Amino acid sequence: MTQKPFVIAIDGTAASGKGTLGKRLASHLGMVHLDTGLLYRYVGCKVLREVINIESVMNHNSPEAKFAGQVASKPISLEEIVRLDLSGEAVSKAASMVSAIPAVRAGLLEFQRNVASDPKGAVLDGRDIGTVVCPDAEAKFFITASVESRAERRFKQLQALGKQVIYGDILRELKDRDARDASRKLAPMMAAKDAFKLDTTHMNMDEVFEKVLSVVLSKRA
Ligand code: DC
Repeated sequence: MTQKPFVIAIDGTAASGKGTLGKRLASHLGMVHLDTGLLYRYVGCKVLREVINIESVMNHNSPEAKFAGQVASKPISLEEIVRLDLSGEAVSKAASMVSAIPAVRAGLLEFQRNVASDPKGAVLDGRDIGTVVCPDAEAKFFITASVESRAERRFKQLQALGKQVIYGDILRELKDRDARDASRKLAPMMAAKDAFKLDTTHMNMDEVFEKVLSVVLSKRA
């Protein structure tokens, strides 16, 4: 009998460091990693290019929302995702908006579950990994930090990428995005009942990594 691959689900608030943590864990453990936020960012970016007003996707019966569903249900090229600049705040907002559309979530589900079934084991990070995408994951985490410390980290990251950014705008955008992601009807951002919750406000990246790794290793033993 083949053994079920070990899956690590990392959910949490925007800019809480989930992606960096997931990447490092996967590389340390020889597993594959998927930052599922990139999939929603990809759909958001494609929709932003085509529509005049991104807010129209809030009506899930609108042609704009239907277009978003079509983008999500077509095969996604990881090469294209890497080529596109998906880091900006307009794309973040668009990703959060399209992520509430049922056809978008349904369209992206199979891709995520395929990655999660990799025999090497997988680390997926997002908002609904432990609750919807991989409810049977062996290790689940919910990572957060105060919104001010997340805004500060995001501000520095974007500045380092050479972007013109204003701290107050980032803070407001993160608050709006968390509220939208947590309040949507379908697969809202929330901790799975069996998730290990970690507030990283006063922790550095190494401390977060060591803590999460120790929990993972205790579950693998
Ligand atoms: O993790 P991120 O900030 O790159 O995600 C961008 C948006 O995508 C986020 O605001 C909500 C959405 N998202 C989601 O709904 N479900 C996921 N599993 C990952 C992201």
